[in-house]
Amino acid sequence: MVTGGSRGIGAAISKALKDKGYTVAATYAGNDEAAASFTEETGIKTYKWNAADYEASKTGIAKVEEELGPIDIVVANAGITRDAPFHKMTPEQWKEVVDTNLTGVFNTVHPVWPGMRERGFGRVIVISSINGQKGQFGQVNYAATKAGDLGIVKSLAQEGASKGITANAICPGYIATDMVMAVPEKVREAIISQIPTGRLGEPEEIARCVAFLADDDAGFINGSTITANGGQFFV
Ligand code: CAA
Repeated sequence: MVTGGSRGIGAAISKALKDKGYTVAATYAGNDEAAASFTEETGIKTYKWNAADYEASKTGIAKVEEELGPIDIVVANAGITRDAPFHKMTPEQWKEVVDTNLTGVFNTVHPVWPGMRERGFGRVIVISSINGQKGQFGQVNYAATKAGDLGIVKSLAQEGASKGITANAICPGYIATDMVMAVPEKVREAIISQIPTGRLGEPEEIARCVAFLADDDAGFINGSTITANGGQFFV
């Protein structure tokens, strides 16, 4: 199951996992049109709920498991930005981002965790961000949640290890998606000039990292972070 799995990085992840032979469920929060065309194009089923809502996540996940079977691999990818310099950031902008990007990870993983423990296998993969590692002007809210996601992964890795569950994070840099295209053009150009590779990343480059971590053979990789940012920032 891939949250936010019908657009952007999430869509590439859904497709890459399907290509590996997994049965994939892609969730989305709002864009019915994008979800419908994604399903038409890929044959991947989509499910609508807001990752920021625990009860909706629980109900939605139960439906996915009823229709497709137990969830062995969960990719917590759904994320939003509400960028503003801190002096202009509103409590609503703070809350929306925390509810989706941080609490949303709890809401997504918590309902599938007991089943993974019982079956003795699980893969939890959280899509964090370069900006959770380095911070970013205009993203106090977003950077806080993405750094928090790394704390979730490192703790789950310790709790899941004895049950055959791994938890890992990926920190994408700036990837060519709607989210990055929403950054004002001048700012975006300045960002690209800071990427030694000289370009934005492609969603498929992140999807390949997910497929690697999801594999049965990746069981010894636990609590780690894959950094994929074109050399923009070294941890
Ligand atoms: N460093 C230092 N100063 C900066 C700056 C930076 N990176 N960016 C802007 N500023 C300065 C400007 O030069 C300007 O200074 P002056 O007032 O002295 O001229 C000032 O900040 C702009 O202030 P404003 O009050 O006008 O800012 P604003 O209300 O227009 O908001 C912003 C600006 C929304 C933060 C805008 O700069 C922005 O969108 N920045 C991009 C943030 C970003 O990287 N977001 C990532 C989105 S993609 C993503 O999140 C995916 C991922 O995981 C990577």
